[in-house]
Amino acid sequence: MADKKRPIDGKNPLATYLQKTKCPIVLEEIILELESTNKTNPELESAKNELQKIKAVVAVPLFAEDRLIGVLTLGDKKNKEMYTDDDIDFLKTVSNQLAVGLERARLHQEMVAKEKLASLGTAAAGMVHEIKNPLAVIEGMSESIVSAFENGKRQTIEDYKKIVPQELKRINNLVQDLLTYSKPSELNKVSLNMNNILQDALNTYALECEKKQILTEKNLGTIPNKHMDFEKMKQAFTNLILNAIQAMPNGGKLYIETYSKYDKIFIKIKDSGTGITKKDLKNMFDPFYSTKEKGTGLGLAITYKIIKEHQGEITAESDPRSGTVFTISL
Ligand SMILES: Nc1ncnc2c1ncn2[C@@H]1O[C@H](COP(=O)(O)OP(=O)(O)OP(=O)(O)O)[C@@H](O)[C@H]1O
Ligand SMILES: [Mg+2]
Repeated sequence: MADKKRPIDGKNPLATYLQKTKCPIVLEEIILELESTNKTNPELESAKNELQKIKAVVAVPLFAEDRLIGVLTLGDKKNKEMYTDDDIDFLKTVSNQLAVGLERARLHQEMVAKEKLASLGTAAAGMVHEIKNPLAVIEGMSESIVSAFENGKRQTIEDYKKIVPQELKRINNLVQDLLTYSKPSELNKVSLNMNNILQDALNTYALECEKKQILTEKNLGTIPNKHMDFEKMKQAFTNLILNAIQAMPNGGKLYIETYSKYDKIFIKIKDSGTGITKKDLKNMFDPFYSTKEKGTGLGLAITYKIIKEHQGEITAESDPRSGTVFTISL
């Protein structure tokens, strides 16, 4: 190709000419045509000048339906011979395929951009929704605090001291979670045993399980070490354990199993909770998807991202009668 980057808008005389004729042109043929007639042909003359400027001897238009989307230009043949009719036919076929490929790539780019915009919209809507509640609480309390001071209303002042930091923490946690989800993480991977990470995550919720009458059962097998980021992996599994606990408000059983097969390790987190409907199962890894009154819906999205960053897979199966099981492979 003689030239790679030249706009093919209305200002380009070659593009204007090809848009009209829709046929390939060969420099020598144009020169002959211009010399053989007495009539002036400014459009053809400009197309010829443009070809010479970019040192091309053939130009083939690329069309997507009726739109000119590109021009394939070629310089002299290596053996310096003229382009034959067969060459031009071959170039026409190539240009048709090129046009189809280019158009497909353009449509794909357009689709990706649309999807990105849509997910940005969903994330922004989720964020607004989550921040609005704590903000409304803080706003309400700020309005009453001045008169509470003036009138010595101790209870309102005590409520303010307790609730405002709580609500600010909620916003702060949300912002942190959102950053974890959206920013590429810097992983500090070292050789670790998954059983230790699970034990650590379980310890965090041991009291909570006892309080909620949740029986925990472990079946941690002999598994090889893997390169992992301890904090991130712990976060991934505490999210799963917390979800399991929240799904068993009236008690139940939390079962955790690890085993290895070939060179992979598998982790199963199973609860005997409320389960998830087929519809929710499809959406639950999406950010801000939550069926809980106080859930932000970032827990599983973050877990999914962490597992993917460790080149792993996570799947879920659920039955409203028997509970939910998450399987992670690494
Ligand atoms: N073990 C489970 N049992 C039943 N439903 C679950 C389970 N885990 C996840 N879900 C469903 O998936 C949804 C998304 O979970 P996710 O952890 O992403 O958000 P959340 O728990 O609602 O809020 P967050 O984790 O941000 O506080 C939950 O609202 C719930 O409907
Ligand atoms: Mg959660």
